[in-house]
Amino acid sequence: MKTAWEKRSIGELEEAVHRHNILYFVKHKPEIPDKEFDRLVETLKKKKPDSPVLAEIGSDISQIGKTVKHSTQMLSLDKCYNEEDLKRWADKFEGDVLVTPKIDGCAVALRYGAKGELTLAATRGSGVEGEIITPNAKYVKEIPQKIGLKNGEVRGEIYMPLSVFKKFEETFANPRNLAAGAIKQKDPKKTGEYRLSFFAYDLLNANCKTEEEKRRFLKKEGFSLVDGKRIKKSEMQRVFEEYYEKQNTRDYETDGVVYKANSVIEQNDLGATAHHPRYAIAYKFQGDSGQTILRDIIWSVSRTGTITPVGMVDPVELSGASVKRVSLHNYGLAKKMGITIPAKVLMVRRGGVIPNIEKVIEGKGKPLQAPKKCPSCGAPVELVDDFLYCTNPKKCAVSKIGELDHFVKVIGIDGFGRKHLEQLYESGLVKDSADFYTLKVEELLPLERMGETLTQKLVANIESRKKLPLDTFLQALGIPELGKHVAKILGGFGNLDKIRKLNQEELAKIHTIGEKTAGMIVEGLKEKRPLMDALLKHVKMEPPKGVGRLLKGPLAGKSFLFTGSLVAMERPKAQELVESKGGTAASGISKNLDYLVVGGGGGAGSKLNKAKQLQQDGAKVRILSENEFIKMLE
Ligand code: IVH
Repeated sequence: MKTAWEKRSIGELEEAVHRHNILYFVKHKPEIPDKEFDRLVETLKKKKPDSPVLAEIGSDISQIGKTVKHSTQMLSLDKCYNEEDLKRWADKFEGDVLVTPKIDGCAVALRYGAKGELTLAATRGSGVEGEIITPNAKYVKEIPQKIGLKNGEVRGEIYMPLSVFKKFEETFANPRNLAAGAIKQKDPKKTGEYRLSFFAYDLLNANCKTEEEKRRFLKKEGFSLVDGKRIKKSEMQRVFEEYYEKQNTRDYETDGVVYKANSVIEQNDLGATAHHPRYAIAYKFQGDSGQTILRDIIWSVSRTGTITPVGMVDPVELSGASVKRVSLHNYGLAKKMGITIPAKVLMVRRGGVIPNIEKVIEGKGKPLQAPKKCPSCGAPVELVDDFLYCTNPKKCAVSKIGELDHFVKVIGIDGFGRKHLEQLYESGLVKDSADFYTLKVEELLPLERMGETLTQKLVANIESRKKLPLDTFLQALGIPELGKHVAKILGGFGNLDKIRKLNQEELAKIHTIGEKTAGMIVEGLKEKRPLMDALLKHVKMEPPKGVGRLLKGPLAGKSFLFTGSLVAMERPKAQELVESKGGTAASGISKNLDYLVVGGGGGAGSKLNKAKQLQQDGAKVRILSENEFIKMLE
């Protein structure tokens, strides 16, 4: 006996298969029993085995794996994490802002043909090329198969509503990953089983003048839109807070708020970077999180003596920056968290800025051990409640911060005030001077009194101090006896290796360096070896200015001081001449001075009197007239 279907024409059967297919897989409201549907399909198969409609329900038509070039690149969104950056973004254009929640799903492009029919659906892929998912898109209820606009393109996000995700949450990490998998099913009807949703956020080729107009059009054509509204720039932060509050009341996961310049003319003026259009930005609810491995702990000592564990982690990309260090706040807290070394940890940047370990995912390494001695000064450590303290705080951190201060001053990095240095030291970001060279803008920004302009200037400044004259390098080490004068003399050796090998005897031979000072310098250089090695990873040495022949030449080892006005030349020129012949230009009078030169133009005052006094006290200082000095040079 013939079934009712067998009496139908091929065209009728095709239409019926298409319709019931959609009712079953897409709308989830079948009108006929499954058995009846099977009979319908069998009938069509017999009459027209190659009917394209059959392909809609079988796996054989899957185009998964094939790619297509996007009509225009599908860019990403710029991100920000605070009101200041959001305002800075909005300052660049005129007019209102269109705001929508940011849904964590998968971006897709839908192309419609000359009759307004859906001709292509593709994932974002690389942004330039995406994967074809046209058959699968037919199984997403909210994607219209036909629209009024000819040759248009709609872009939006495929996502899984939380109410659907509920039954998968045991097996899948989050709705986004599941949606991404679901849309690429080889068998498109399987895609339908995941009950994915779609919202449209962009319309191409429709000549709309505003985002609002695009939304009106999309709505009229049957697309779903997330709740959005046009707002004034002054309302941006308030709306962010409103959306933040509403987060848990929606049937989809949101991770921020998307703002767009409403005017399309403004959008075109703004243009785009290779990564994102400048007309839109996502203000994220929270810094992204990421897993990484905690490799080591260093102990950071504050001015007040608190010793804080600072975690060194494998670099992890969080909220747009690569993070390598994280404060663990205090020893007790780190212990309670179950920190081990190594450990697999989950990290975020709180408020999008401050790195934080949220939890230990797997802690199978060595348990955290408190140091017995202060890592900065070696004094005993004591544990009070959760906190570790150095028992001699006055001596340790303060002097370390002093060393950092000396370093930035000597090498000429302006802008690091004492407060900044304290914060950098206490956070563990800068434990010694070599750490300045690895500082990043994102690491400096959270510090008090640090704006973006200043941080960028500081980082650029540090970068420009990677080529240091040898004497500057030596002076910057912070060896108490190795000041500017001695650094200049040592610089005369021409390279660091030679200086490192000097012994006390050799150094003491140099005029103006006494035996005791020589011993302390040798000791200091030995102590600073690790610091020098660390610095040498970042800085290159250049020959010291004007001291290249210091230890050679007719004036080698002799020091000269000038007083009164010189007739034959300016004072700097005279000093340069002295240095070029191996001598040093002294900055003040002392018993170690060799020559005081009295300028022929008069005006010699206290220096001359002092030199005379020193001579009476038995010092070797000689007083030269300008003429005698010039003869000496000849
Ligand atoms: S507008 C650059 N609005 O987030 C294209 N995108 O992480 C302008 N997204 O590539 C997109 N919610 O796929 C826009 N309300 C929303 C969005 C949204 C989620 C996606 C979009 C974008 C990605 C960046």
